[in-house]
Amino acid sequence: MNSYFDKSFTQQEPLPGAALESAMNVLRHGRLHRYNVTENEDSETSLLEKEFADYIGVKYCLSVASGGYALACALRAVGVEPNEPVLTNAFTLAPVPGAIASLGAKPVLVEITRDLLIDFDDLNKKIDESKSRILLISHMRGHICDMDELSSLCDKRKIILIEDCAHTMGGTWDSTNSGLHGLVSCYSTQTYKHLNSGEGGLLVSNDPDLMSRAIILSGSYMLYDRHIARPETRDFGESKYYSPNCSGRMDNLRAAILRPQLKELSIKCEEWNKRYGVIESILGKSNRIGLIQRPSKEGYVGSSIQFYLDGISSQGITKFVVKCRKRGVELKWFGDKEPNGYTSRFDSWKYIAPQDCPKTKSTLSTLLDMRIPLSFTLADCELIASIIVEETGELD
Ligand SMILES: Cc1ncc(COP(=O)(O)O)c(C=O)c1O
Repeated sequence: MNSYFDKSFTQQEPLPGAALESAMNVLRHGRLHRYNVTENEDSETSLLEKEFADYIGVKYCLSVASGGYALACALRAVGVEPNEPVLTNAFTLAPVPGAIASLGAKPVLVEITRDLLIDFDDLNKKIDESKSRILLISHMRGHICDMDELSSLCDKRKIILIEDCAHTMGGTWDSTNSGLHGLVSCYSTQTYKHLNSGEGGLLVSNDPDLMSRAIILSGSYMLYDRHIARPETRDFGESKYYSPNCSGRMDNLRAAILRPQLKELSIKCEEWNKRYGVIESILGKSNRIGLIQRPSKEGYVGSSIQFYLDGISSQGITKFVVKCRKRGVELKWFGDKEPNGYTSRFDSWKYIAPQDCPKTKSTLSTLLDMRIPLSFTLADCELIASIIVEETGELD
């Protein structure tokens, strides 16, 4: 009889006991708003910002309501105007083009390679064609391109780099934390990311002008002196008059549950990579499955895995996904033309100008994706990967 996997792919680990205690502490005193502090008290939110800035190795950090809000706030802080073209990779998820579109700006999609990384040739071409001055790179599903090459390309072409690190929190490029190459970088603490506060986002930068604008934009009611990981008071001189309040602050309850999780992030990243390693090595045994080659300088966090079923038609992939689901294994197919459960292909974003990215479309046509929650044991991962491999044996 066929084996069956019976755990949920959307069940996270419970939060650590310390997170429950600090949440209860905030609930007991009731000061949930980040600026609601007693004399000489630093809010949970400000403390989280300081701790996250130290973790990444950056001067300034701002916590906000979501990862998508962080992206839009970063774009506003670099002065994106309505109708301005903003480059981004065509393989990403809806909050990225959504953040660009939310400012009335125009996403310009850049092709990706077989390794799921931004295509530098197409990037140069799209810079020439669009005359854009901004690249919002999304390290989609934790795949980090050659950041040395990207940084020198951006320097040479005078492109402002914004990094979407929603999937690379805890990851590195050549031992440098993900998020340190851009002028500003954004993270998400939405439930399925590497820290879990339900919803939430973090924005980091070493640039005092940019960060003072971001803090005012996020809705600081001119109480920015209550932030710890912030620029000097004099850096807010002009921005406080010219940056509109677009409220999107994080609250103390979320910050209180994130701080204890941050302490455990490095251990959790190791745990993800153990699970990723088990699944990858079993999938590698099937000659129907193509694995993604990862650059040697990339320090990834294997909280999800992607693989190809080359040479299989759309109908064949749909059938394969259904068969795996019947055995309890939940796969997403990035090639599906219909947007569906967190996954969408770039040509389903009808709110942006239609764009032809044939290389990306062909790459996604056989690309499958699977979450790896830490609630799965290593034995669970073995079972899941064996089910996938067995089902590839059934492919026509
Ligand atoms: C690639 C990517 N970027 C950004 C975000 C934005 O995060 P949030 O859901 O916190 O707005 C997400 C969330 O799904 C994402 O997958």
